Amino acid sequence: MSDAITSVLQENRVFEPSEHFRTSIGTVHVPNMDAYRAEHARSLGDPSKYWGEVARGFHWMHPWQRVLEWNAPDARWFVGGQTNACFNCVDRQVEAGFGDDVAIIWEGEPCSPEPEVRRLTYRELQREVSRTANALLSMGVKCGDVVTIYMGMVPELAIAVLACARIGAPHSVIFGGFAPNAIVDRVLDAQSKVIITCDGAWRRGQVVPLKANVDEACTRLPEVRHVLVLRRTGREVTMHPTRDLWWHECVGAQSDDCPCAAVDSEHPLFLLYTSGSTGKPKGIVHTTGGYMVFTAHTARLTFNLVPARGQVYFCTADLGWITGHSYIVYGLLPNRVPTLMYEGAPNFPAEDRFWAIVERHRVTHFYTAPTAIRSFMKWGDAHPQRHDLSSLLVLGTVGEPINPEAWMWYHRTIGSSRCPIVDTMWQTETGGHIITPLPGATPTVPGSCTLPMFGIDAAIVNERGEELPANTGGLLVIRKPWPSMLRGIHGDRARFIETYWSKVPGMYVAGDGARRDDRGYFWIMGRIDDVINVSGHRLGTMEVESALVSHPAVVEAAVVGMPHEIKGTGIAAFVTLGPDFANSAGAPLKRELQEHVAHEIGAIARPDMIRFTTLLPKTRSGKIMRRLLRDIASGRESRQDTTTLEDFSVLAKLRESDE
Ligand code: PRX
Repeated sequence: MSDAITSVLQENRVFEPSEHFRTSIGTVHVPNMDAYRAEHARSLGDPSKYWGEVARGFHWMHPWQRVLEWNAPDARWFVGGQTNACFNCVDRQVEAGFGDDVAIIWEGEPCSPEPEVRRLTYRELQREVSRTANALLSMGVKCGDVVTIYMGMVPELAIAVLACARIGAPHSVIFGGFAPNAIVDRVLDAQSKVIITCDGAWRRGQVVPLKANVDEACTRLPEVRHVLVLRRTGREVTMHPTRDLWWHECVGAQSDDCPCAAVDSEHPLFLLYTSGSTGKPKGIVHTTGGYMVFTAHTARLTFNLVPARGQVYFCTADLGWITGHSYIVYGLLPNRVPTLMYEGAPNFPAEDRFWAIVERHRVTHFYTAPTAIRSFMKWGDAHPQRHDLSSLLVLGTVGEPINPEAWMWYHRTIGSSRCPIVDTMWQTETGGHIITPLPGATPTVPGSCTLPMFGIDAAIVNERGEELPANTGGLLVIRKPWPSMLRGIHGDRARFIETYWSKVPGMYVAGDGARRDDRGYFWIMGRIDDVINVSGHRLGTMEVESALVSHPAVVEAAVVGMPHEIKGTGIAAFVTLGPDFANSAGAPLKRELQEHVAHEIGAIARPDMIRFTTLLPKTRSGKIMRRLLRDIASGRESRQDTTTLEDFSVLAKLRESDE
């Protein structure tokens, strides 16, 4: 389409779906806006009919009696039905005669001279998953037991996830970048007794010591019975004689035959921990039927997936996040389009890693995050230009609002001005896309995630639940249940209700501020709680504060987000030192505290800026005034009301103190 519609500097540039996309994609599932509007209205008018029809496209071991039972905030979808997500991802394709089609393409690190590439067909995947599932059964894992998975991005990670689903054991995947403490919290919360890990993971030529981290965590996890260890790097690890098992020995010895358990539609498929505004991470619960149907359906529509048309889909996310769960594994495999996973980092061995992958595998669908796009821009156009990117048809983005400049760069430099960009807005809690363009239908505007997905009744409301007029900022809510909505926070009903269902009665509150423009498009303005979105990943300010305070030098800490060129939001920490450390305030201690946080939580939580202060700005009731700190961290003059500030001199001192 035409770059030409309006001048480059305006915010209201509109990009119609391109002719190139229409002619190359084969079948356009939703071909125009009339079709979108009609289908969206139909999906909201009679959700049971709509989702019943969609769900009939999946395999059910026992049919459901009712599509939906809704007792706010509790939804039950496909009530009485029995199914298996692994069956629908894998076995179904084999039974339908597609066993030799490629299911997963994997590129490993190290990549020189040539990267290691593995291709797994559905039949091979079925065999590997079955063996792994049998290995879990042999370790005493039963239907309903949570299995923790802490691995690098290797095919066995997807295999492990599917093996859990096969036997009805909910998985809890922990991002491999997290530290031992994060493992301890999550394993304890989930009461998990089995952990699957690797000896290590490759990242930028270094080995991330996953097994050593698990060993450290296990010193505080007496309930863990078994650790299954995949050999990936070949580095020396300690094997506990009764607890630890090698994958190649244990899985290798199993039979290929492991029937898929028929589980209730509402049987938990997985827990995935995400940061909240206070306290420990929340174990978001997703169940089987609704999640399976919604993720596969939205993957098909948002990316316009068409099997057997040579499509290759590459999502750069890690499986440790919801994007990996929904749009590398569960949403993709039922659509029979190969899903490409990669191990390593986008800039190793060089900054063209992704473009080399796109060229090598003739990738048609590329899905990444704004933070990555900003890095690509910084690294320079020469990297993508060295590669043939002509196979690309659809580009996706997720994780945070994309700034129009990055959108335009993505559009021009990666998409040659002819690939639709789908800016997909969603959350760990929503399971799948809630607001997104559809590539064959929706005219896109840089920076807007555009319009709601089918079945999603999204709105901008005030705290009384009243819908706000165009261009008025308010709360993003979803007013009707949808199949892949979270079913709860593991073990914390009160927090579930408090976080999502108490701010506006009867509506799901996403925790984001947003507005709609004149054409009804959604613009996400950012989080309304004490959650900061760093590189597209949510971190609770509390978590970082707790990590800082656990350092002996620190007595008090306040953490806020600040603008960051690449990460979108960076982490700013204001720290008060204990009396014995008052003279230590300086660069070495800053570095030590940064490392301390990285060690406690993981590298993504490392503060970008630390400022020492003898006092933090507080209200008379003792609450830290984060709004003021946000202004200071971003270098803004504060227009905030400071009448409740206890000690005005604090503000002046904070501004003075140099970084
Ligand atoms: O603030 C929104 C932002 O990321 C939050 C969800 O984070 P998480 O659960 O970690 O999931 C990220 C991947 C789905 C949202 O509440 N967010 C996500 N996608 C977008 C976005 N903000 C604006 N535009 C998006 N496309």
